[in-house]
Amino acid sequence: MPDHYAVIGNPVAQSKSPLIHAEFSRQTGQDICYDAILAPVDEFAQAVTDFWKQGGRGLNVTVPFKLEAFRISSRVSERAGAAQAVNTLVLEGDGIFGDNTDGAGLVRDIAANLQFPLAGKRVLLIGAGGAARGVIMPLLEQEPRILVIVNRTPQKAYDLQRRFSSSGKVLAVNYHDLYGEHFDLVINATSASLHGELPPVPAGIFASQSLAYDMMYGKGHTPFLQFAELQGVKNLADGTGMLVEQAAESFFLWRGIRPRTGPVIEMLRSRA
Ligand code: ATR
Repeated sequence: MPDHYAVIGNPVAQSKSPLIHAEFSRQTGQDICYDAILAPVDEFAQAVTDFWKQGGRGLNVTVPFKLEAFRISSRVSERAGAAQAVNTLVLEGDGIFGDNTDGAGLVRDIAANLQFPLAGKRVLLIGAGGAARGVIMPLLEQEPRILVIVNRTPQKAYDLQRRFSSSGKVLAVNYHDLYGEHFDLVINATSASLHGELPPVPAGIFASQSLAYDMMYGKGHTPFLQFAELQGVKNLADGTGMLVEQAAESFFLWRGIRPRTGPVIEMLRSRA
């Protein structure tokens, strides 16, 4: 019997994780099976318990359960603690270890795949929800010159500034404070693209060699990447690379082997 893993979410049918992990398994020769579990929104903890009872070894957790996954973990990694959200669960003894590989996935995609070193850079993070919170600590570890956080509801950005200010140079601002400012890297961590919307960032925030990164992905360019392209930005990236890199980090956690991500990113892009 192969070891059993799954992604758990609601909805989950759209998840690309089963495809990604099937590729990792084929590539590394690791004998695993990986499927998708649709958990009722109010029965996440029970669904996780059932999965362990059926012999499951590890779970990826997606919307809307990352905060609950954090709460049911008996032990969490430092990065999951900073994010207060968990996207990877591992059964250990009679407890559950919770980790968060999203931020590491983003940083690896930007620094290694896109060859865009973050040290000394001016970085703008748009959004202050769960997705943004998960990547702040790993971004700060790369020692950017400054990490500016902007959010529609400003208080949430100010809360994040307070929470992370001991880990690096973080500044929360309002959208109107961004006029006249330029950033080397602008990351859209809002869910605006999901609704075909654009966060109200002013034109002109991109520096000459900027990278515009949307953590969302889908068919064609997101509204944010279209906006950046109209501003003349050449370096555009959606969240496909991050998705594959966070999956690779989870795979490494479970199996102790780091799969090659390049071919899997290529495969997903060719199917989009
Ligand atoms: P996630 O886990 O995907 O981050 P979330 O916690 O609901 O989801 O956060 C969504 C983020 O996208 C928030 O920062 C939200 O801004 P608010 O905190 O003001 O709600 C942001 N967001 C969503 N739609 C947006 C839009 N149209 N314009 C600007 N920001 C938007």
